[in-house]
Amino acid sequence: MSAPALTVDTKTPAIDIRGLTKTYGTGALAFQALKGVDMRVEQGEFMMLVGPSGSGKTTLLSILGCVLAPTEGEARLFGEALHGRKESELPRLRLEYIGFIFQGHNLMAALTAEQNIAVPLELRGYGHSAAIKEAREILTAVGLKDKFAKRPDELSGGQRQRVAVARAIAGRPPLILADEPTASLDAESGMQVTKLLKDLCSQRGHTVVCVTHDNRIFHLADRTVHIEDGRIVPAPSH
Ligand SMILES: Nc1ncnc2c1ncn2[C@@H]1O[C@H](COP(=O)(O)OP(=O)(O)O)[C@@H](O)[C@H]1O
Ligand SMILES: [Mg+2]
Repeated sequence: MSAPALTVDTKTPAIDIRGLTKTYGTGALAFQALKGVDMRVEQGEFMMLVGPSGSGKTTLLSILGCVLAPTEGEARLFGEALHGRKESELPRLRLEYIGFIFQGHNLMAALTAEQNIAVPLELRGYGHSAAIKEAREILTAVGLKDKFAKRPDELSGGQRQRVAVARAIAGRPPLILADEPTASLDAESGMQVTKLLKDLCSQRGHTVVCVTHDNRIFHLADRTVHIEDGRIVPAPSH
């Protein structure tokens, strides 16, 4: 399984959203977290999404990640519409298109590095030995060739986040979504993990949307998009 999971016309944007809104709750308790977002990300781009706490970054990432359904507007991943679908259809799209990297590494504590990658691959339909082979290849690519059998508590923070990167890109989902992946790392490890993510995704052709506050890694992005109060805004001048 070394071919990309999907072959899509490369002119189709990876992400194309128009007038996207998300309202949490109803009636007097309704809160509009996204207020009409337009955004286009080309295939192969490494985009950073930047904005203050509460601005709607995780909400937007959750819609792109097929975890939450949008309230209004249009959202397409590689030409495939996410709007107007039943929530029950979202898990299939998520499996097909998305690799996630979270703020904490979210690795399973009882599993080794290799198993943390292989088990989700088996859930995606890989046979056991193909899953282990892929897990070892990717752990090698993230510089953890000698850590296959280590559990998360036997790894450093930076190494754990490398395993999380490896898990996200395993199985070659075309879109990688990272939500503040460097937040729990020191500056040096954060920079290294982001560089690794960028290099691997560019070699393998993944599109990346990375939410971050961390201005030390902004220069690694192909493009930075700013969000404030549920809307895309121009980059602040200060
Ligand atoms: N499940 C929810 N129910 C109600 N409000 C929510 C929910 N999730 C997020 N919010 C609100 O939506 C806004 C945007 O949240 P979020 O997308 O998590 O922002 P960010 O990731 O930029 O910090 C915040 O005001 C938050 O309180
Ligand atoms: Mg968030």
